[in-house]
Amino acid sequence: MGGGLTLYSLKGRDLLCLTDYAPWEIRAIVEAARMMKERFYAGERVIPVLRGRSVALVFEKHSTRTRVSFEVAAYQLGAQSLYLGWDQLQLARGEPLKDTARVLSRYVDVIVARVRRHWELEELARYADVPVINALSDLSHPVQALSDMLTILERTGRLGGVKIALVGDGGDNVFHSLIVAGAKLGMHVAVATPRQLRPREDILRHAIEWARETGGSVEVTEDPFEAVRGADVVYTDVWVSMGQEDVAEEKRRILRPYQVNERLMDAAGDKAIFMHCLPAVRGEEVTEEVLEGPRSVVWDQAENRLHTQKAILALLAP
Ligand code: CP
Ligand code: NVA
Repeated sequence: MGGGLTLYSLKGRDLLCLTDYAPWEIRAIVEAARMMKERFYAGERVIPVLRGRSVALVFEKHSTRTRVSFEVAAYQLGAQSLYLGWDQLQLARGEPLKDTARVLSRYVDVIVARVRRHWELEELARYADVPVINALSDLSHPVQALSDMLTILERTGRLGGVKIALVGDGGDNVFHSLIVAGAKLGMHVAVATPRQLRPREDILRHAIEWARETGGSVEVTEDPFEAVRGADVVYTDVWVSMGQEDVAEEKRRILRPYQVNERLMDAAGDKAIFMHCLPAVRGEEVTEEVLEGPRSVVWDQAENRLHTQKAILALLAP
């Protein structure tokens, strides 16, 4: 692989959760993503390191950014992508995941999957002979968090020592991945969430242990104003994730004090940027003013998904 992309070999690895990745591996992906972006803007739209390869996208849930960025990323690396909506596969008629995994492995070089339940990814990975990449599950969204690390690096010039406040649903899939990535990169992660919605304890334990090694920290508070004090980044996600429609009203009720609005951004201080993985629900987790305001970097975040997806595919594809 040319142009510095041999920095670190992750060939053949699954990417199910950042708990499986060491700090230097996370850094290698962020670095490769930065390089992909630089080369893109230098006019190298196509870097055909995966010429002749195929990437399957098995999606059980809706997607705009993840689907499109992976499809375009595959194209720009010289590979083809196949979008396989769950409902159109024999999976929907009861063909087991383990059979689907083995069959797809005979055709494609990478499987990117968005699933309702994380164990489905683990089952796919257990039976697939090719890397399986988590494109979002109920537990985590590692490709989003990796891409967000690039955005934070661009905006603050560093990762270690950055304070990121995650305000909203502590058990959110994107938050779980940000907590782990942040801790492993030496960031100070403050989660503001109601006590009923704390992050999963195993994720917190893993992150806290790594933060001890990296000089970072992880704290959970019920007070959003305490969490954002001195923050470089204020981050939120939807209050009602895909698949949580049955508890939507209850979540909206308990999360109301956690809206990211001008008052909360002011409490964070002048240097704080606003981040959101999107899609956003204006008037719920974030106000229109903050989302569209000068401190919001959400469109850069969305763009960086493309460059990061390219880095992930280039590094992991066998
Ligand atoms: N942020 C994100 O994953 O967006 P999509 O659901 O549109 O893929
Ligand atoms: N937490 C959200 C993220 C969407 C990208 C969800 O799971 O719906």
